Amino acid sequence: MSSSSGQFRKVTTKTFMLMKEKGIKISALTSYDFLTSKLLDQAGIDLILVGDSLGNVFQGNETTLPVTMDEMIYHTKAVTRGVARAMVIVDMPFMSYQLSTDEAFRNAGRIMKETAAGGVKLEGGKRIADAVKKITDAGIPVMGHIGLMPQSIHQYGSYKERGTTQEEADEILSDALILEQSGAFSLVIEKVPSLLAKKVSEAVKIPTIGIGAGQNCDGQILVSSDMLGLNIEFKPRFVRHYLNLAKDIDNAVRKFIVDVKKQDFPSEKESY
Ligand code: KIV
Repeated sequence: MSSSSGQFRKVTTKTFMLMKEKGIKISALTSYDFLTSKLLDQAGIDLILVGDSLGNVFQGNETTLPVTMDEMIYHTKAVTRGVARAMVIVDMPFMSYQLSTDEAFRNAGRIMKETAAGGVKLEGGKRIADAVKKITDAGIPVMGHIGLMPQSIHQYGSYKERGTTQEEADEILSDALILEQSGAFSLVIEKVPSLLAKKVSEAVKIPTIGIGAGQNCDGQILVSSDMLGLNIEFKPRFVRHYLNLAKDIDNAVRKFIVDVKKQDFPSEKESY
């Protein structure tokens, strides 16, 4: 029985808890625009993340750090207009929640007031616990993000997997438990060994959603442009290409150019 079988109507935090209890895997993809969101939602995706990966994928930046609150809100408004069923979660961008708990609270509130999103996502564990508590106490669902946290790239120095030493693995597990205690309704676990993701997923009652974290998470997320093959230069081990959209677009554009040049387009039928 899949979550897209009509068993669930509008997806909420409760749906995710129920899915974990029943062992139904959660499907999640990113989106930054109206049309993509509409297609993902109609296909039955459970969760749409307006990821700050839009900094890389949409804006062409090296990192996610330049993304602003205004940009996240702009994209989220477009996304939610296309969604009827899936839960829409919004990444809180770099420096929108690190300054103080009050600042984090204010910015999470702003996202909820100005968009029709269902919740926010923050990167970090222990260091963001107070912010997570304050935001969830106000009734705003929070998704945590542990393991590789792209907003900390300058601290890491590379996008290599995390949790490969005992010390780091212990810290990731401890962060997961702290986030759960602070009120997070789910956790993204990015690029850690499968066995660690399994251990975390078994240790918490809230659902875990993996990216490069193996089979044993309660759900899986990918960046849409990666799985659609739009970004062919980016092919880490954890990405599966379900389409080769870059090739299809290239073929279509080349055909259009030829048709225009030889005056095959527009035809009479395509004209007024
Ligand atoms: O920003 C993003 O798209 C993300 C996913 C990779 C989980 O955080």
